[in-house]
Amino acid sequence: MTVPTKDYARQYAPLWEALGPALRRAFFEDEPILGEAVDRFELDFADRHGKGLHGIGVSSGTDAAVLVYRALGWSPGDEVVTNAHTFSGVVTALLLAGLVPRLVDPEPETGRLRPADVDAAIGPRTRGVLAVHLHGHPEPVDALESLCATRGITLLEDCAQAHEARLGGRRAGTFGRAAFFSFHPSKNLGAFGDAGLVLTPDPALAESLRVLRNLGKAGKYSFDAVGPNAKLDTLQAVILNAKLPYLAGWTERRRTLSARYREGLAGVPGLTLPRVEAGAEPAWHLFVVHCAERDALRAFLAARGIATGLHYPIAAHDQPALAPHLAHCGPLPVARALAATCLSLPLSHEHGDDEIERVIDAVRDWGRR
Ligand SMILES: Cc1ncc(COP(=O)(O)O)c(C=O)c1O
Repeated sequence: MTVPTKDYARQYAPLWEALGPALRRAFFEDEPILGEAVDRFELDFADRHGKGLHGIGVSSGTDAAVLVYRALGWSPGDEVVTNAHTFSGVVTALLLAGLVPRLVDPEPETGRLRPADVDAAIGPRTRGVLAVHLHGHPEPVDALESLCATRGITLLEDCAQAHEARLGGRRAGTFGRAAFFSFHPSKNLGAFGDAGLVLTPDPALAESLRVLRNLGKAGKYSFDAVGPNAKLDTLQAVILNAKLPYLAGWTERRRTLSARYREGLAGVPGLTLPRVEAGAEPAWHLFVVHCAERDALRAFLAARGIATGLHYPIAAHDQPALAPHLAHCGPLPVARALAATCLSLPLSHEHGDDEIERVIDAVRDWGRR
């Protein structure tokens, strides 16, 4: 039996008894567009992050980002500072909004931004800093929050991989002016298709986003802004509502399995394990190790029936479509090195202890070869 990286059937099987009737109710009693299920999800998801927050359901994490950039009134040519070690789609969203990404190389040991490097990258056209909590590890948003306040610019968070992550006891998604969430099926909380949400404490921004996501319509007939059709679907909201009560427990399970990996894989020669910073409670969206012989290790594990992933094997500034827009950022050697050495071991709340032990045994055998 293969140890998979993910298995959606395993996730849905125990949920189906509740989910089947909930979907049926949606078809017969709710509205297909902006139904009650969407309102409920927006409220519940925002509430779990704290009082006074607004949730705006949108069609994907990417749309969440693009809508926020537009709602903030940022103009073409404005700059956003962010980590070069990233999901390339983060850069795409900035470019779609006409913004100029200013990528900063991270600290090699953690892949996180160093606030002093962010400070040095801020220029006269910088409007914001985007903290992407990659793999579910919080960026130093506590320090970035004060830095942005001092420099008079906006902090945004990309929490696509960081549902339930915390820093200093505070939830990721509550540090900046707005946070983007993705509910892509592979995420810790996933829909069965694309879905996303913006979280913000700013009521005026929330209202602009509700208009912008709906073709710019303020009412049924009144087009008050030029916006895309980027709403969260009722059916996806039904699925997210059914899963939300489990998210805390699922996250704990990821934390338990990650702790087991960190203990079981300690000391394997040639392997660098993910580091957890003081005060950080990662969401463990992925368990990413680094290894100079990444491809050999990957092939060794595949031969033992263990699937692995790569997040992400090509740095954003080396992507053919993005490179021409990022030449001003320089060679960014740390991001390149992290891309060349990363390997994601199987991790989800559905994985059994026995599967994780199989992976640990196999990686240890590789270390002894
Ligand atoms: C860090 C990060 N940001 C943004 C996104 C974009 O989200 P989506 O796929 O929902 O557009 C993703 C996931 O795909 C992601 O992992």
